[in-house]
Amino acid sequence: MIDQHLLTRDVRALALNWLREGLPAPLAGALALGLPEWDARLDCWRVALVPAGQPRQPVGELQVDRDGAVIRAPEPALIAERLKALAPGKPTRVVARKAERSKAVAPGKPTRVVARKAERSKAVAPGKPTRVVARKAERSKAVAPGKPTRVVARKAERLRAVAPGKPARRVVRKADIAFPPVPNKVVLGDCRAVLPEFPPDSVQLVFTSPPYFNAKPECAEYVDYSSYLDFLEQAFASCHTVLAEGRFLVVNVSPVLVRRTSRSTASKRLPIPFDLHPILDRIGFEFIDDIIWRKPEGAGWHLGRGRRFAADRQPLQYKPVTVTEYLLVYRKKTDRLIDWNLRNHPDRTALERSLIRGEYDKTNVWDLTPASHAGHPAVFPEELVSRVIRYYSIEGDSVLDPFAGVGTAGRVAASMGRRFVLVEKRRDYFEVMQRELGKLPNTGPVDFDDLQYRWSADDAELVRP
Ligand SMILES: C[S@@+](CC[C@H](N)C(=O)[O-])C[C@H]1O[C@@H](n2cnc3c(N)ncnc32)[C@H](O)[C@@H]1O
Repeated sequence: MIDQHLLTRDVRALALNWLREGLPAPLAGALALGLPEWDARLDCWRVALVPAGQPRQPVGELQVDRDGAVIRAPEPALIAERLKALAPGKPTRVVARKAERSKAVAPGKPTRVVARKAERSKAVAPGKPTRVVARKAERSKAVAPGKPTRVVARKAERLRAVAPGKPARRVVRKADIAFPPVPNKVVLGDCRAVLPEFPPDSVQLVFTSPPYFNAKPECAEYVDYSSYLDFLEQAFASCHTVLAEGRFLVVNVSPVLVRRTSRSTASKRLPIPFDLHPILDRIGFEFIDDIIWRKPEGAGWHLGRGRRFAADRQPLQYKPVTVTEYLLVYRKKTDRLIDWNLRNHPDRTALERSLIRGEYDKTNVWDLTPASHAGHPAVFPEELVSRVIRYYSIEGDSVLDPFAGVGTAGRVAASMGRRFVLVEKRRDYFEVMQRELGKLPNTGPVDFDDLQYRWSADDAELVRP
């Protein structure tokens, strides 16, 4: 028996009170409450906030501790934005895309893909600056005509640090895969803003686990699923630019469960890996493999899924307890074979030391126990990281994790003779990395950059520190 002190009706009354006192009246009036449920893992009550008359669409959640204190609540601005996104008359992403598509294939008009390609080739036409360079030049002009901006100066400085004695802008020959080493780096900021600051093709493996939509109440920050997918598209497009030709991107991701908001509604599973695939394909990654990370049985029971079926065994009610996650393996698209990356590698001895000797995973099912860290709720098991690094990188490579958390990927990369680039937007996690990665044995210096690069609230512009 759980000692949760309050009854459902007490929690409802507390939540109603929070609505009245914690929100502007028009916003409170637009909301209703879902069914309060006790969450044993988080040790608190969880109450969904739903639009009045639309009980299936949560727009936020209140958490109430066993003594009746509201311990977590969404920002009113985020609730308002989510309500706006649900307002009737707003086309969904799919509807909008379909409309766009049918416009694009109208007779006489080039299709979207053709148009994009034409745009791209125009953009890289000799003598014409690329979009990114042009945008940057525009920005620097806007700041102080004739004078290098702080950012440009900083960037030149950084590039010099990467390749001392060399001019900042260098021509990367296609056949040259000996990229200058990027020093170990940990950056506080939004990866979509940070990564464009890095030279293109400068890391040799990306391994990451993006935030799982709004799955954990402590990071439920996306307005809706479609804006979450747009966010992933921007983040992975930046990864694509900094990843070297023909090298690998490995993404740890899973479908997530969106809890039901009341007894009369059902929980939903969002198929993130399957929605992510077309996005990665569009960006320019080629699908290579799906590896299943299987956790010990019992690992998924705390989510409550499958308990009902276990009790009453009704057909149609079957829901397996999820004990797996995916590792999706992609390669940056190129016409060259993987063999090209190996044959042209500049350090034969590093390649020799990176041979995968002895035991290895012969199938795509990897059995591993999840890990925990006092400073972060969802960390990689070190063993998972070391397998990915072992199979998909070479000693001396730079491993990038754009959603670094407390930096497990960096810690393991360093222990395996690789370098790391880690980006994390939360200061508390960045500070854990400062403590834990600042004094790694046998690793070169680590550059900690806490300038906090981020995007503006409307996601339109990079805001610089
Ligand atoms: C699933 S966790 C990764 C944990 C990591 N694998 C580890 O072992 O510590 C995802 C992380 O991405 C961070 N994050 C979310 N949005 C971000 C963004 N735009 N840029 C950088 N980091 C972000 C979150 O704060 C969270 O720590």
